[in-house]
Amino acid sequence: MGKFRIKGGIPLKGEVRIGGAKNAVLPILAATVLYPGITCIHDCPKIVDVLTMIRILESIGCTAKWEGKTLLVDTSTASNFEIPAKLVSEMRSSIILLGSILGRFHEIKISYPGGCSIGPRPIDLHLKALRQMGVRIEEEHGYILCKTEGITGAKIHLDFPSVGATENIMLAAVFAKGRTVVYNPAKEPEIVDLQNFLNRMGAVIRGAGTNTIVIDGVTKLSSIEYTVIPDRIVTGTYLVAAAISGGEALLHNAQSKHLYAIISKLREMGCMIQEEKDQMYIKAPSHLKAIDTIRTYPYPGFPTDMQAQIMALLTIAKGTSIISENIFESRYKHAEELIRMGAHIQLEGKIAIITGVDRLMGAVVKAEDLRGGAALILAGLCAEGETIVCNSRHIERGYQQIDEDLRTLGASIQKIKDEE
Ligand code: EPZ
Repeated sequence: MGKFRIKGGIPLKGEVRIGGAKNAVLPILAATVLYPGITCIHDCPKIVDVLTMIRILESIGCTAKWEGKTLLVDTSTASNFEIPAKLVSEMRSSIILLGSILGRFHEIKISYPGGCSIGPRPIDLHLKALRQMGVRIEEEHGYILCKTEGITGAKIHLDFPSVGATENIMLAAVFAKGRTVVYNPAKEPEIVDLQNFLNRMGAVIRGAGTNTIVIDGVTKLSSIEYTVIPDRIVTGTYLVAAAISGGEALLHNAQSKHLYAIISKLREMGCMIQEEKDQMYIKAPSHLKAIDTIRTYPYPGFPTDMQAQIMALLTIAKGTSIISENIFESRYKHAEELIRMGAHIQLEGKIAIITGVDRLMGAVVKAEDLRGGAALILAGLCAEGETIVCNSRHIERGYQQIDEDLRTLGASIQKIKDEE
């Protein structure tokens, strides 16, 4: 797995470039299956989840080749539609292949993606929507078998604006007969990026980012080149890195319009943030102020993927803050680790009460999930002494070079082997 060793107490100062968004490129990689040829994806992050998605595409007969930050995917030789259970267990978001493989092959066999450390992660909304679109689905021995004579457009109301369910419906609807309308879809920027990618290939989709998405079925797509949007969660993570270390940072290729909920909370805590067209500058205050309440909500609300990072920041803010995690059932595993570093956090179900302390103390802590692990690195930046964050692979699922980037900003952080 590997570990990160951080020496705290150094205010960050420097510039770094944000790479392509993990949660945009994963559905876009799934979408390449809809075109039987080569698709070129620029600014593709070389993170563990993308490498896993490439292995899944190769398992159904596709090939992929890196050219620097560009990934060329060739799906012309895709032939089978059974996704290996081992790969699904490595990355539960491989369920996003349901829509595109059904769109191309009208059949798929995939193991049930289990839950993960942040919650049970059901897929009932995905399956209910696909059944409405004419897909027969059997669930047996932990596998999902889907078959259809042809996908038909449908009017679908999502009980919850699920990101993955919205993406699967969009992908399945591209070649459907007729029109598909999605009410109460997810409105994340990654949904808009998927719409833009598919429309560039020749799909007819409109309304992504609003309360209703309309997809009119087409018969074929064409080969394109596409640049993925910057990762708003990596951007938010690095903004917090500057804030928690009492430093400053200039982030290039950063879209502030995707982070208004985060920016407003950081300003409320006393940070100075300047937004330009595609860059952001942040300077930390001498003292961080606590925030009454932060509630995680679907976009454009405060993102659940930034909950752990803002919690780390609040542990050293003056006063008491409350977080309400409204999206996932058990997304507070990082709290116990922060408490080991001297944080004062009380957990009451989905509520976390954080009382600021003067400083955190370095400790050996464990990453249990991607964003919780990133939060522990952030805590290490301000802790007194040395912090070791174990289980680095969780973090590398979504951050291509968090140690290199933070070193560029002046941090003392190294990746070390487990046995060190
Ligand atoms: C996506 O997961 C992201 N992953 C997650 O990012 C992110 O936290 C999440 O959206 C919410 O923004 C990717 O895009 C690859 P959901 P997804 O379906 O699609 C419930 C990260 O750190 N639900 O919007 O799985 C579900 O239980 C990851 O980058 C159902 O009940 O999220 C959860 O409580 C973590 N039934 C809520 O909806 C369903 O059929 C949000 O899930 C589907 C979801």
